[in-house]
Amino acid sequence: MMDTRRHLRGIGDLDRAALERLLDLTDHMAEVGRRANPKVPALRGRTMCNLFFEDSTRTRMSFDTAAKRLSADTMTLAVGSSSVNKGESLRDTVETLGAMGVDAFVVRHRSSGVPWRIAEWTEASVINAGDGWHQHPTQALLDLYTIRSERARRLGEDAGFEGLRVGVIGDIRHSRVARSLTEALGLLGAVVVHIGPRTLMPPTPLARSTDDLDGELEDLDVVYLLRMQNERMDAALIPSGEEYTRRFALDPQRAGRLGEHVLVMHPGPMNRGVEITVDPTTLPGAVVTTQVTNGIAARMAVLFDLLGGVETEVSA
Ligand code: NCD
Repeated sequence: MMDTRRHLRGIGDLDRAALERLLDLTDHMAEVGRRANPKVPALRGRTMCNLFFEDSTRTRMSFDTAAKRLSADTMTLAVGSSSVNKGESLRDTVETLGAMGVDAFVVRHRSSGVPWRIAEWTEASVINAGDGWHQHPTQALLDLYTIRSERARRLGEDAGFEGLRVGVIGDIRHSRVARSLTEALGLLGAVVVHIGPRTLMPPTPLARSTDDLDGELEDLDVVYLLRMQNERMDAALIPSGEEYTRRFALDPQRAGRLGEHVLVMHPGPMNRGVEITVDPTTLPGAVVTTQVTNGIAARMAVLFDLLGGVETEVSA
């Protein structure tokens, strides 16, 4: 039970009720984002510190924008992945920044488990922005929110997640996105199938898996494509890029077989010509840029949930 409200290190920090509460809060934050002035004073006086030890464009900018829309102060430590790789120096960094009055650390690191370590060294909240192959909980949250809101918009009702069929396609084994998303969808009652080469499936299955995309395609409500990482090709985990594309890419022919209400998603960055060979802007179900937009609202919800509710005003 300890810590489950103070941090968001993985989907394991949430139960179904907490997840649903965050989705509702995301809805509220999305409404704030649509205002002419999309800024509220909710987290005035609070400080969020970005600790990104791995490259990122969208996740870091998204957290930054989310904090600013809530009027929090932001600090960013720009670290190359090589400069901090000893537990001791990471601890020093966290303690030093903590002493400057940080309320939340947003952490991305190539090693699994780093957000849990950091949580032991600081009084601040820790939010995981991606640790190794392990977890990326705010990506899962923005994806769930996108599924929920886009289906409600397209189908005219909030159909919920119970029984929803989601195919996650690609390199499941090395994907923190797939891991967090699969866990989160499971909490809400959705049915996930992992589709990809057998060499890219996790050693311990997280869901039913298959290498037959064409056999699954027509049963899916959501097609979730993962980024195929070039280093996997070098490691001979797949026969070749062309072979991968032939068997697992969303191409025009496969896209044509998708039902009218099927959503097509990708966490970005997209490898056009590898996992997707059709222009997503031509697909009515593609919501890739909506995912990016919703990422801000989802991160606002997380920051508000962890840091809000404390009186920060001092009387004049
Ligand atoms: C993902 C990541 O870094 O884990 N990207 C992201 O956060 N938008 C997925 C990826 O890099 O493939």
